[in-house]
Amino acid sequence: MPDPFRHYEGVPVLDLPADPPVPGASPAADGPTFLSQLLFYSAAISASKRVPSTGFQYALRVNPSSGNLHPTEFHFLTRGLTEWPDGLYHYRPSAHMAEQRALGDFHLAGSSAPIVFVLTSIAWREAWKYRDRAYRYCLHDIGHARQALALAARAIGCETFAAGQFQDDEIAQAFRLSEDEWPMLIVEIGDGPIPVREPDAREIAWFGGHPNRLSEEKIAYPRIDAIHAATKVSHLAVVEPAPSGSGEIKLPPPAPYIRAFSEVARTRRSALDFQGGMQSMSLPQLSAILGAATQQPFSADFAGTRFIQLYLYVHRVDGLEPGVYRFWPERGELEKIKSGDQRVAAAGLSLGQDLAGNACVAFSMIGDLERAARAHGDRGYRYVHFEAGAIGQRLYLAAEALGLGATGIGAFYDQEVHRYLNVQPAQGQVVYHFAIGYPVPDPRLQA
Ligand SMILES: Cc1cc2nc3c(=O)[nH]c(=O)nc-3n(C[C@H](O)[C@H](O)[C@H](O)COP(=O)(O)O)c2cc1C
Repeated sequence: MPDPFRHYEGVPVLDLPADPPVPGASPAADGPTFLSQLLFYSAAISASKRVPSTGFQYALRVNPSSGNLHPTEFHFLTRGLTEWPDGLYHYRPSAHMAEQRALGDFHLAGSSAPIVFVLTSIAWREAWKYRDRAYRYCLHDIGHARQALALAARAIGCETFAAGQFQDDEIAQAFRLSEDEWPMLIVEIGDGPIPVREPDAREIAWFGGHPNRLSEEKIAYPRIDAIHAATKVSHLAVVEPAPSGSGEIKLPPPAPYIRAFSEVARTRRSALDFQGGMQSMSLPQLSAILGAATQQPFSADFAGTRFIQLYLYVHRVDGLEPGVYRFWPERGELEKIKSGDQRVAAAGLSLGQDLAGNACVAFSMIGDLERAARAHGDRGYRYVHFEAGAIGQRLYLAAEALGLGATGIGAFYDQEVHRYLNVQPAQGQVVYHFAIGYPVPDPRLQA
């Protein structure tokens, strides 16, 4: 297993203040506090687990990640933050600190945002375990990370904008990224209570730093390299609207959240399994979850239309018969496409993982890859997975805010899902599964 933490060694490391204020309570007093707050609620370590049989302890973070392998790195540039030098930084989650890789006025063409993140993926960190499928998980994780940043920023009172259309090699060069790190998404933070001053007018001074070696040996995955190279090419073409439809079940008004963002973001966990007994969730709770997942727009240069459609395997939702439903977000309606108990099917399709059958509701996210490719060329493949990850992050937090639990599921039998749901290639392909219910206690979890 490669080292789960990337460090750029030999550079100045700046402290981010511990225990930053709860988002939304009062504006951050200075730049370091603002950065600390943003990262504490989107990317920091938030708990640990201990394996009882071996005593092995490992860290868990605010943002989830397939297999807890965390291929995503957070780089950021700052311009004109108070009490914080302008420059280029890499977030060090293991110590909640920022590695200062350069000083000076960096800005990306067309952007004047005071903080700009570049999210990168280290595919090897996933590939050693998940092989070729790892590329998808890297993309999902970027979607989760981006949405984690967006939700933390919104709780603080700021807006974010994500850019997926850029020249990968130029960004990799401008940020002097280690060759194993691939830039995937640029996220600007702006329009809010960010403590700012005039940007520094100084020449750029590089420290760079030496990226740590993540493992002694590395196995090549040529198909991952090939798909990454193919999706470097982007072109904007025809953005077609998502198909619209309707269902016979109109969702009721959403149930209110019972837990605040600050609490939910820091305590969110993936359920190990769900209590498969009698306890059900309510239809207003489901309405709140589906609303959170789809209502607010994603603000990104590739988000002119949605590419994901949600299919639900309903097991235990009061007032909704067990079955498979398709969700039409524009009308807030569910369309029943299969009747009957779906617990065995949902678990079976999710690579035999019981949690998809023990949940109250499980999901297949169907991504319209063809339409995405018509709109964005092969790069559309990335965007569909980013959208799925971002929806996943919203599902996690909405479930927790309602007193439920959730788990993202990247492992499923693709072709069997298509057959079971009767999804034709023109409609899309399954890109992500999800489950929501009442979690069983996890004995490994340490506060
Ligand atoms: C893209 C993605 C795929 C995942 N796939 C699975 C899965 O198939 N089965 C599972 O039990 N957990 C899955 N998880 C949950 C991770 O194992 C979990 O996020 C990780 O262990 C970290 O724990 P945390 O979410 O509590 O921080 C997935 C998470 C993500 C983000």
